Amino acid sequence: SKGNHRHFMQKEIFEQPVVVSQTLGRYLDPIGTQVTLPKLPFDLKSVTKITLVACGTSYYAASVARYWIEKYARTPVEVDIASEFRYRDPIYAENGLCIFISQSGETADTLAALRHAKEAGQHTAAIVNVTESTMAREADIILPTYAGTEIGVASTKAFTCQLAVLAAFSVAMGVAKGLISSDTEKTLVKELEHLPAQMSTVLATEENIKAIAAEIADARDILFVGRGIHFPIAMEGALKLKEISYIHAEGYAAGELKHGPIALIDENVPVIGIAPSDGLLDKSVSNLQEIMARKGRVVLFSDHLKSLPQADLAGSFSMPSAGDLTSPILYALPVQLLAYYTALEKGTDVDQPRNLAKSVTVE
Ligand code: F6R
Repeated sequence: SKGNHRHFMQKEIFEQPVVVSQTLGRYLDPIGTQVTLPKLPFDLKSVTKITLVACGTSYYAASVARYWIEKYARTPVEVDIASEFRYRDPIYAENGLCIFISQSGETADTLAALRHAKEAGQHTAAIVNVTESTMAREADIILPTYAGTEIGVASTKAFTCQLAVLAAFSVAMGVAKGLISSDTEKTLVKELEHLPAQMSTVLATEENIKAIAAEIADARDILFVGRGIHFPIAMEGALKLKEISYIHAEGYAAGELKHGPIALIDENVPVIGIAPSDGLLDKSVSNLQEIMARKGRVVLFSDHLKSLPQADLAGSFSMPSAGDLTSPILYALPVQLLAYYTALEKGTDVDQPRNLAKSVTVE
C-alpha cells in the first residue's frame, strides 16, 4: 500500500534511506571495517575488464559505477546500453566480467546481452532487485539489491540500491587488486555507513524542491548539467523528469554545452546545474556562468551554493558535502523529487506515465 503517501513513487523515494541501508548491510561486515561480496566462482583479482550493460535508469547506475571501478580498481570499464551492446559484436577480454544491471531482471535486451556474454565465455553477474528473475537464474552470480518491490514505473529506490551495490563492489574489487589498504577500506566503509543518514537529511528538506518545481513546470525544454561522476545523475534527472512530467529534458556533461546545446539557451530554458564541491566545481561554475550570460535560468544543486550569486539564480537546493563514493547517490534524491513535484504541478499520472511499462520484456 501507499501508506500515508499520495503515490507509490513518493513512498519509494522516501523509503530510500531504509532500503539503501538494508542493501549496504548485506555488503558491509557488521563491525563496519570491510566490504563483503557473495562467494564468487572466479578470482576478482584476475578480472581484466569490466563490462556494464543495462537500460534506462539502470544504465545510468552503470555509468556512475564506471568512475568508481576505474578509480578504485584501476580496471578498464566498458559501459553500454543493452539494446546496442550485442549488435556491435563487442570485444570481450579474456577473464572479463560482464555485469548486467536490472531492477526487474527481465528486461529483454539486457537478458539477451547476458546470454551473449555467457555464450562468449565471460564471467557474468546480475545486479537485480527480483531474485527469482530470469537474469538472476542465468548469471553466474547474483549481487542483489534489497529495495523491496518497486511499483512506481519511474525507478527510484532500485536505482540508489543499485548504486549502493556497485559502490561496495568497486571497493571490493580495489581491495582484491591490492590497491586499497585496510585503512582506506575502513574510511570508505564509514562513508557508506553514513550515507542513509545523509539521505534522510536531504529528504527532510524536500519542501525546498517545490518552489523549483513551480519555477520550471511551464518550461518546454529543460537541461540538466553535471560533470564527472555527477554527469550520469544529470542524465538520470532528465530521464526522470521527461518520463513523468512530459517536459522535454536532456542531460549533458557541462563541458559539452558550448559544443552545440548552448544554442538552445534563452530566458525560457531552465538549466539544473548539479555542482558539488569536488575537484570539478570551478569548471562547472564557469559553465553555468556561460549559461547565465545567455539569460538561461540556472537552478543550482550544490553543497557550496555560494559559488554563484544567489540573486542571479532561478533557484537553489542545498546539499550536504560527501565523498565521491556516496555523492552521486545523494544527488539522485533531489533530481527524483524535482521530477515528482514537477509532475504534480502538471497533473500527470505519476505512477503510471503514458506509453511506459514497468518491465520491458520485448526488444
Ligand atoms: C526509468 C526506468 C527505466 C528502467 C529500464 C530498465 O525510470 O524505470 O528506464 O530503468 O526500463 O529496467 P530494469 O532495470 O528493470 O532492467
